[in-house]
Amino acid sequence: MIFCKILNVCCLLLMGLTYGNVAVYAQCTKPPAYPNVSLTSESLQLTEFPDGTIVKYECAVGYRRTQGSTSSTCTAGTWSNLELKCEKISCGSPPEVLNGKYNLSQGLEFGAVIVVICNKGYVLANQVTWRMCTESGWSNRDPVCEVVKCPAPPTVSHGHANVDPDTTISYGNVVQYTCDAGYDLIGNSEIVCTENATFQPPAPECKNVSCPNPVVENGNRVGGGPPPYRYKAFVAYQCNPGYELKGLAEITCDVNGWSPPPPTCERQGRTDSPFSFLHSCTLACSFMVFCFFPLQFELNNPFLGKWAELRMKNSSCTISLVTIRHMHLSVGES
Ligand SMILES: *[C@@H]1O[C@H](CO)[C@@H](O)[C@H](O)[C@H]1NC(C)=O
Ligand SMILES: *[C@@H]1O[C@H](CO)[C@@H](O)[C@H](O)[C@H]1NC(C)=O
Ligand SMILES: *[C@@H]1O[C@H](CO)[C@@H](O)[C@H](O)[C@H]1NC(C)=O
Ligand SMILES: *[C@@H]1O[C@H](CO)[C@@H](O)[C@H](O)[C@H]1NC(C)=O
Ligand SMILES: *[C@@H]1O[C@H](CO)[C@@H](O)[C@H](O)[C@H]1NC(C)=O
Repeated sequence: MIFCKILNVCCLLLMGLTYGNVAVYAQCTKPPAYPNVSLTSESLQLTEFPDGTIVKYECAVGYRRTQGSTSSTCTAGTWSNLELKCEKISCGSPPEVLNGKYNLSQGLEFGAVIVVICNKGYVLANQVTWRMCTESGWSNRDPVCEVVKCPAPPTVSHGHANVDPDTTISYGNVVQYTCDAGYDLIGNSEIVCTENATFQPPAPECKNVSCPNPVVENGNRVGGGPPPYRYKAFVAYQCNPGYELKGLAEITCDVNGWSPPPPTCERQGRTDSPFSFLHSCTLACSFMVFCFFPLQFELNNPFLGKWAELRMKNSSCTISLVTIRHMHLSVGES
C-alpha cells in the first residue's frame, strides 16, 4: 500500500514535470465513427485514450469486410486513419424454385425477405414460404412447389370416366366421360382439374332423352330425319299451301322435349270474316252492297295472305284493294 501510494505520487510528479515540455503526454478524444463500421464492444468500454491506445473496429451488422486493417491507433492526440472497408452483405440469387419463383422486390442484400410464389396449379409442400438474407446466406430450406391434385372425378350414372379409380389426377389433367349405350351425354364430355383441386365445368349427365314425333297438322316435314327422335335431333316443317307457319320452322330435341315447341300451321288470312257481323248486306252508305247467302268467301291476296283493310262506316263504305273470289258480293252505287 505504501509502495503504491509512493508510486502514485511519483507518477503524478512525473506527469507534472513532463506536461509543460512534450506531446508524449497528449490523450486522444473519442475515436471517430465511420460509415458501415462500428467499434468492438471492448473498445466501446474505453473511456480514456492515452497515447498509444489501439481501438478495434468491426463491420456493422449486415456488412462484410472487403479490405483494410480493423484497428486505429492514438498517436500524439490523433487517431490513425481506419483502413477497414465494409460492404453490405449480398446473398446473391437464390437457387431456382422448381414450378415456382421468388418475389425479389426487396432485393438480394442483407435483411431482404423473398417470398415464394408457386406457379399456377402448384402449392407449397413444405412449410417454407419465405427466406431472408442473413450473414450466413439465405435462411430456411429450399421451398417445394407441388402440383395440385384433384379428388376422384365425379361418378355419373349410366356413364363412366376414362380414368382408373387409383389414378392420381393433377392440375390440368382432363377427364373424359362417355355414356352407356342408349343414353345421351348432357353437358360437357370433358372436365379439367383446376388449381383449386376441383373439376370444371361440372360433370355431364347421361340421360335417356327422346322426343315425341311432332304433330304439325297441315304441314310437312322438310328437314331432319324420321322418328325416333333422340337428343339433338332436329326437324324442320313447312305448311301446306294456304297455311301460315306460326312458331319456328326448325325445332331440336332437347332434354325437356322439343325446343322450341313444334310450330303450327294456321289458315292464312283472318279467320273471323269481316262480314260476319252483317245480318243484312244492305248498307246505308254511298255504295250499295248486296250479299247472297250463304256467304262463302276466300281471300286471294297477292301480298300477305291477310285480309286487306275493309272498313264499314255508317256514313260511307271503304273497301280497299281486296280481290275477293267465290263471293257473291256486288257493289253498286246507291
Ligand atoms: C457503406 O456501404 C454502402 C452500401 O454497401 C456502400 O455503398 C458504401 O460505399 C459504404 N461506405 C464505405 C465508406 O465503405
Ligand atoms: C412482390 O412483393 C411486393 C411487395 O411485397 C408486392 O407489391 C408485389 O405485388 C409482389 N409481386 C408479385 C409478383 O407477387
Ligand atoms: C329410353 O327411352 C325410350 C322411350 O321412353 C325407351 O323405349 C328405351 O328403352 C329407353 N332406353 C333405355 C336404355 O332405357
Ligand atoms: C379458384 O378459386 C378462386 C378463389 O376461390 C376463384 O377466384 C377462382 O375463380 C377459382 N378458379 C377456378 C378455375 O375455379
Ligand atoms: C251507326 O249506326 C247505328 C245505327 O243507326 C248507331 O247506333 C251507331 O251509333 C252508328 N255509329 C256511328 C259510329 O256513327
